[in-house]
Amino acid sequence: MKKEKTVIKIDNLTKEYRLYDKPIYRIVETFFSSGKTYYQSFMALDNISLEIQRGETIGIVGRNGSGKSTLLQIICGIIKPTKGSIVVDGRISALLELGAGFNPEFTGRQNVYLNGSILGLTQQEIDSRIDDILSFASIGDFIDQPVKSYSSGMFVRLAFSVAISIEPEILIVDEALSVGDEAFQRKCFAKINQIQEKGGTILFVSHSTTSIVELCSRAFMLDRGELLIAGEPKQVVSRYQKMVYAPDDKVEAMKNEMRLLENRFALPLEDEEPRRERVGGKRQERQAPQSPSAEVSEHYDPHLVPVSIIEYERKGGTILNPRLEDEHGNLVNILENGKSYSYVYEVKFDRGIDKVKFGMLIKTIKGVEICGCSADSAKAGCGTIAEGRVVKVTFPFQCLFYPDVYFLNAGVLGEDSDGEFYLDRQIDIAMFRVRGDNLKHCTALTTLVGFPEVTDE
Ligand SMILES: Nc1ncnc2c1ncn2[C@@H]1O[C@H](COP(=O)(O)OP(=O)(O)O)[C@@H](O)[C@H]1O
Ligand SMILES: [Mg+2]
Repeated sequence: MKKEKTVIKIDNLTKEYRLYDKPIYRIVETFFSSGKTYYQSFMALDNISLEIQRGETIGIVGRNGSGKSTLLQIICGIIKPTKGSIVVDGRISALLELGAGFNPEFTGRQNVYLNGSILGLTQQEIDSRIDDILSFASIGDFIDQPVKSYSSGMFVRLAFSVAISIEPEILIVDEALSVGDEAFQRKCFAKINQIQEKGGTILFVSHSTTSIVELCSRAFMLDRGELLIAGEPKQVVSRYQKMVYAPDDKVEAMKNEMRLLENRFALPLEDEEPRRERVGGKRQERQAPQSPSAEVSEHYDPHLVPVSIIEYERKGGTILNPRLEDEHGNLVNILENGKSYSYVYEVKFDRGIDKVKFGMLIKTIKGVEICGCSADSAKAGCGTIAEGRVVKVTFPFQCLFYPDVYFLNAGVLGEDSDGEFYLDRQIDIAMFRVRGDNLKHCTALTTLVGFPEVTDE
């Protein structure tokens, strides 16, 4: 095993911006020092300390303006911190927010040379790589047009191709990848995997929390310049999502709760104790769904209960008793590959509402979304929903999952004059295990409908 090596070390790093009401105040202050301050101080980063080891893939999440880009720019050496220290050990290459590092008047080809030299390549080194760069970017003849005529997708293709051409030891990607089309994104992610396999270090800012969970070994959450939490990506991402969806007046309390977390900079995958909590409310204990005959059996294990349940603030509806049933309506949570089941829950409405969508989503342990769908109340023929009504929602499915553990989510969306909103939304609300001794040779997530055959020609 490779010895751990710190490649980025940041201590008590602060970046302050001084906001002057009028530009002239900056000059007045410089030349006529009267002790008076003419600016408002704004902390884009506030006393951040962190360490990143070689081989880690770090995801950074945070609301807009929380300091993610500022942090990445400081790591790249593009801007200087106001206070604190930063040490970077390794050849770094960055794909920063669109525009950074490219001259819009130059052609794509000229920008490749310009950026290559910024990254430390000689003219000959760029000459020998240019074919690879151009073929990865695949923007055709546009390469000899000024980049100001590029679409954002073309731009990001070229910028990413240049960034990876130096085989970076540390690759930094700020949002940019979401601009490309899916096929190109897949190609970039494959490249990122290659860099990971070679032991490279990656820092990755993305609004796609699924990508963060899928790609990263660790995640950081910034908010208003503060490093709030760090640790296992699924944990960090679910707390981040909870905060993003919380009502404004609850956010500060949620931040305080995070500040008090034990291990807040090293959150483990799951808490030891079962945890159920309501967003913006008190922690809440609730019994695991159980049928009267619920006891350990071949198809039901009462101990198989999620410890990462998140219940969002309710707005007029409650999802009740989410569960899986076999074809005979028996409660199950140990499923057999190939058999038919239903995901069932009831919804109690505390307000009348015209249109409702009932949703479900199945995820892996790492948070990868496997399948989700929703049923429309109008199409399901249940018409306008009156206050106090309870409906049962059933999603039948054939279990094509490979043996592993999966998590269920449920959400009920209502619509009023302001648009769609969640009446109730519950994350990791139930879990199930898929059994299949005959599938031990399989990989990935789901099976084919039939079993493989090998025959003589
Ligand atoms: N040059 C600057 N002068 C003043 N404020 C800035 C400057 N650059 C960034 N900021 C502010 O710093 C904060 C953090 O910005 P940024 O790092 O871009 O956030 P993020 O990438 O998380 O959206 C924002 O409020 C932004 O307005
Ligand atoms: Mg940014």
